[in-house]
Amino acid sequence: MRWVFVVALLPLLAAATASIVGGAKPKAVKPQAKPRVAALPAAAYLSPTYYMKSCPNLEGIIHQKVNAWVKKDYTMAPSIIRLHFHDCAIRGCDGSILLNYPGSERAAEASQSLRGFALIQEIKAEVERQCPKTVSCADILTAAARDATVLAGGPFWEVPFGRKDGRISLSKEANAVPQGHENVTSLLNFFDKLGLTFVDLVVLSGSHTIGRSTCASVKQRLYNFQGTGKPDPTMDPKYLNLLKTECRFDTNYVALDATTPRTFDVAYYQNLGKKMGLLSTDQLLYSDSRTGSLVSLIAAQPDFFFSQFAVSMVKVGNANVMTGKNQGEIRLNCNYVNH
Ligand code: HEM
Ligand SMILES: *[C@@H]1O[C@H](CO)[C@@H](O)[C@H](O)[C@H]1NC(C)=O
Repeated sequence: MRWVFVVALLPLLAAATASIVGGAKPKAVKPQAKPRVAALPAAAYLSPTYYMKSCPNLEGIIHQKVNAWVKKDYTMAPSIIRLHFHDCAIRGCDGSILLNYPGSERAAEASQSLRGFALIQEIKAEVERQCPKTVSCADILTAAARDATVLAGGPFWEVPFGRKDGRISLSKEANAVPQGHENVTSLLNFFDKLGLTFVDLVVLSGSHTIGRSTCASVKQRLYNFQGTGKPDPTMDPKYLNLLKTECRFDTNYVALDATTPRTFDVAYYQNLGKKMGLLSTDQLLYSDSRTGSLVSLIAAQPDFFFSQFAVSMVKVGNANVMTGKNQGEIRLNCNYVNH
């Protein structure tokens, strides 16, 4: 049984891997071709050694600060991972979610439960002391999300660096980030625009193995699902009752993973098989024919989850990045564009 799944998955893995590695591989170049057209995708210019000379202590600074904050408040780990996703989801990983003024992404309705801005600000201040005008806010957030994952018990991966910070950030765009009531088609379409496949969708949704949601995001499922005046019928009745007692106020929090909310594991996927997904979008990944078999596979394959999570996080971190000399900027303060 297991083998069938694993073998069936091999082409998927190959495809997922090829789209990262293959993207960076130059096609056969004719020796005499003279006007050299920039054929590589922007993400191909990112590199783990990008700041090796210009800011050798960068990852040390980030690690030290993330570690200190997560030790004090473990809920900071999932919040940073989510903040990174929301950055990359809109205009690519360009730090645009961090910009803080009326009308920016951060001011959007969809951004109100985002956290972790102060941690990124503190890291940036120390990085500016040690390596002025060198490291982008987008890169800091990307590496912080990796460190947060490791601290939560998840996998490690090398972070490619070299993103530029964007100068544009619009509230109305931020509201396009999936909120939990979308169908799988619209999730797949959204991920596709980030260069992400259904494998990335299923695997990155596994971030919901830690962290929490405000009750505001789930209350329609509990009381008035899609205007029916009834709860979502695909939810386990006991779990439904538990959520109703935990969600007496919209501002209350509930765990995204009902069984092991602090542990980075495959319980999130196992719960989906027991009708215990918190968000409607989580539960739909199990029932939809395009994603369901991968959910079941991962529920039984923790090693696959860990290794593919690392791969998919690199991919989302490469989404629509700016790397060109004349693109974007190295922001001095993550909250504001440079003058
Ligand atoms: C597939 C589409 C996704 C949807 C619909 C979705 C939706 C949500 C919602 C509604 C919340 C709770 C927000 C609130 O507090 O009310 C949440 C939390 C979270 N999301 Fe997602 N998400 C998605 C994908 C992702 C991805 C790709 C990642 C990471 C790569 C991610 C990481 C997280 C984390 C870690 C939390 C917990 C945040 C915390 O505890 O502060 N999500 N998500
Ligand atoms: C999925 O949602 C989109 C956007 O709301 C909608 O246009 C589409 O009809 C829905 N598709 C299905 C299959 O329900």
